[in-house]
This record gives sequence, C-alpha cells and structure tokens, in this order.
Amino acid sequence: MPAVMVTGAGRGFGRAVLEAYLDRGWTAFPVVRDAGLAETLATRTCHPVLADVGTVEAETAIADALGAHGAPLDLLVNNAGSIKKLRGLAVTEPEDLEALVRVHCVGALRCTKAALPWLRRAARPTVVNITSRFGSIGRTAAGEFRGIVSYHVAKAAQNMLTACLDRELRGEGIRVLAVHPGRLRTTVAAVDADTDPADAARALADWVERVDRDAPCACHDLMGGGLIEW
Ligand SMILES: NC(=O)c1ccc[n+]([C@@H]2O[C@H](COP(=O)([O-])OP(=O)(O)OC[C@H]3O[C@@H](n4cnc5c(N)ncnc54)[C@H](OP(=O)(O)O)[C@@H]3O)[C@@H](O)[C@H]2O)c1
Repeated sequence: MPAVMVTGAGRGFGRAVLEAYLDRGWTAFPVVRDAGLAETLATRTCHPVLADVGTVEAETAIADALGAHGAPLDLLVNNAGSIKKLRGLAVTEPEDLEALVRVHCVGALRCTKAALPWLRRAARPTVVNITSRFGSIGRTAAGEFRGIVSYHVAKAAQNMLTACLDRELRGEGIRVLAVHPGRLRTTVAAVDADTDPADAARALADWVERVDRDAPCACHDLMGGGLIEW
C-alpha cells in the first residue's frame, strides 16, 4: 500500500486529507500534537506521530515512526499551520511573525528533511506544501489583501522553500509542489470561505495522482484549477 504523512492532521484540512487517503486504502502517518487524539486515530493502517512541527523533537518522532514501519513514503503533505487574525503593522509583534514562520516554513523544512530517507525509496515521491493565496508577494504588493502580516510573510517564505527544495530534489525524482487549497470552511476560515475541506481533500488526492511531474515548480490552485501567482 502507498503511504502518506500529513502534518496538522488532527482537524481542519489536514484531518480531511488524512481521511481521504485512508478511504483510498493508503497507509497513513498523521502528525498531531494531542496525545489523546493520537491514540484514537491509531489503527492497523494509521500510525499517528505525536509532534509539534515547530520543535526539533519532531524530526526524531517522524524518523522513528517511518523507520519502525520501514516502507517507502510516497507523499508528504506539509499542512500544519496556524494564523492570528491581527491585521496591520500596529498589531504585528515580531514574536508572532517568528512563531508563524517557525511552523509554516521551518516546520515544512524540518518534516521534509526528516522524511527524506523514506521518500527516496518511493517510486513517485511527492511533497505538497499547503500554501495560501495570501503568500503571493505580487498580489499583496498590488493591495489585493488586507494584511495579516505574519501570515503573508510565513506563506511567502514557505513558497520560497518549496521552490528551493524542488530545485534541489527533482533531479532525484522527488517533486516538491505548492498548493493553495481554496477558501476552506475550517476554524481559521476567511470571510469568503466557501469550500468543504472534505471536497478539497478529495480534490487534492485526485490532483496528486495526475500532476504533471515534468512541469516547472509553481503554485497550484486546487479548487480553481490551473496556477495562481505566488
Ligand atoms: N482554511 C483556509 O481557507 C486555508 C486557505 C489557504 C491555506 N490554508 C492552509 O491550510 C493549512 C490547514 O489549515 P486549516 O484551515 O485546516 O486550519 P485549522 O483548522 O486551524 O487546522 C490547523 C491544523 O494545524 C495543526 N498545527 C498548527 N500548528 C502546528 C504545529 N506547530 N505542529 C503540528 N501541528 C500544528 C493544528 O493542530 P492543533 O489541533 O494541535 O492545533 C491543526 O490540526 C494551513 O497551513 C493553512 O495556512 C488554509
């Protein structure tokens, strides 16, 4: 069975992605922060990893879980993330920005590096970084969004990480892709949220199957189709 690791899989979009892959018969490694939840998620094919992706301990937790299983990892979905709805410079503290970059960007790097030995053994290894339209420098500069500065910066940094990782890893057959999942009805939903996370999760699983692995690294608009500016 193919295997997927999803970070931030306890609720929201990550949980929906986990369920979409379990429904398709994949082996799953959900990364969650709550020990009780980890216990309830565990089944014969679901192997929860208890970790905060913003900490160095996550690296050992991920390596231990994948090492114990031993099989290749086909897909890593770096989804874990949070947002503080504080708009504008006056309410943006440097510590908030650091905290968001630590999870959205550094966390994605940490999880990818930790999972790399098992990704390298897969036939079509893929890393999907869940980004946001709010990570676009061009659209932000054009005044399209009303700034949650820390979130814009964290997602823009994650986008650059995606491009750098893809450039470095695609030579050995590992693709690293950025996906804007749509305007999802989750706890952090934007005012214009219109999409059920379960629909987006199924769309993600379909898209990963048919993605053009030779195309340049870009930001994919999951529900809209095509690409969006990043
Ligand atoms: N909702 C949207 O419309 C939308 C649009 C574009 C992009 N996104 C992106 O999609 C991703 C998922 O968002 P969502 O809407 O599903 O949000 P959500 O409902 O708030 O879920 C976020 C998930 O990330 C986990 N998480 C946060 N920080 C973590 C950390 N340090 N270590 C491990 N797990 C952590 C949370 O775990 P706990 O339960 O332990 O807090 C939770 O499971 C995020 O990257 C977000 O930026 C969302």
